[in-house]
Amino acid sequence: MTFLVTGGAGFIGTNFIRYWLENHPQDKIVNLDRLTYAGDRKNLTDLENSSRYQFVKGDIGNQGLANQLMKEAEVVVHFAAESHVDRSIENPEVFLQTNILGTFNLLEAALKNKIKRFHYISTDEVFGELPLGTKEKFNEETKFDPHSPYSASKAGADHLVLSYYHTFGLPITITNCSNNYGPYQYPEKFIPRMITNILDGKKIPIYGDGQYVRDWLYVTDHCRAIEAVLRWGKPGQTYCVGGLTKDVSNLSLAKMILKIMGKGEEYLEFVVDRAGHDRRYAVDWNKIKKELGWKPKETIKSGLVKTVFWYQQNESWWREKKKEAEEFYQKLAAKKI
Ligand code: NAD
Ligand code: DAU
Repeated sequence: MTFLVTGGAGFIGTNFIRYWLENHPQDKIVNLDRLTYAGDRKNLTDLENSSRYQFVKGDIGNQGLANQLMKEAEVVVHFAAESHVDRSIENPEVFLQTNILGTFNLLEAALKNKIKRFHYISTDEVFGELPLGTKEKFNEETKFDPHSPYSASKAGADHLVLSYYHTFGLPITITNCSNNYGPYQYPEKFIPRMITNILDGKKIPIYGDGQYVRDWLYVTDHCRAIEAVLRWGKPGQTYCVGGLTKDVSNLSLAKMILKIMGKGEEYLEFVVDRAGHDRRYAVDWNKIKKELGWKPKETIKSGLVKTVFWYQQNESWWREKKKEAEEFYQKLAAKKI
């Protein structure tokens, strides 16, 4: 089968393309990516000699290009997005442009070209936040209540994707996944920011009181979940994907990473909180487990050890990206003072 993957030069898309080509030797992938600050074509240059992989630089909002690429594709896996909450607070417009209008453009092209499956990668952030200290979890029935421009733009796209199923019969599926971590994650995000700060001998910035909870999932487990949905998922269905069964606060996570890297708590630094910071995310992934037989393989410990090792071994990959990310954070901090 031929796949069109969007945003495959980013973190999850890169891991997905590697995973898919390794495990599905008969399939081909075309990777459409605009190469924003978050995309790096070099992530997959080793595959560019293969007849099974092609990189195309372009915007998902480009109608002619989307149509042309979908003529050859049977399946679309749509990752491309502006993905960072802090940047959406600073500059929301591009989030609406890419995440909503870009998705709309892809849906139109998918319909025209009779795509067999359009899979949209969404987030658990569309559900808003949960209270601390409860056992409540997000599931497929949870009402949408997005709090940031990022999550609002993702939620808008979720609705749009579902509408193309109900109105036009486009065979869509959606995964609403929790926080991913692992190799190739841009160092603006919490886990790679912590690891690269420690490698640079710098402190870890903890927003607010550090008592915020995310449901961490190792990226390869997310790729396996997408695979399960593409193989066995039913058109028109959404599937929640998460990694943990017990809450881990940001502060505990930071301490776990410090321990793995052999450093002490003097590396912790509490900083000004994010505006509208969601308290707690936790995902009930029983539906995908029961219906499609998926569950995460990595524990938080094993996933973090692999991730720390990857960043230790790949400084040339993250060094320039870290400079860009920290310049963004410096400008943000100057505004908060
Ligand atoms: P990322 O920011 O690392 O990568 C995004 C990629 O999309 C980049 O390669 C970028 O160049 C590309 N892109 C951005 N705008 C584009 C456009 N207009 N046209 C073409 N390409 C464009 O993001 P990620 O963390 O890999 O996330 C991938 C998807 O998964 C996103 O849709 C995100 O909302 C979703 N998601 C992410 C997480 C997470 O924890 N990272 C969790 C749940 C869902
Ligand atoms: O839940 C899924 C979402 O997870 C995805 O949809 C998003 O694309 C992805 O970016 C991620 O969003 P978060 O905002 O949860 O991730 P981030 O890595 O930015 O932050 C994780 C937590 O860590 C959050 O509570 C904020 C906190 N944090 C973050 C940074 C960068 C800090 O305390 N210090 C930091 O320096």
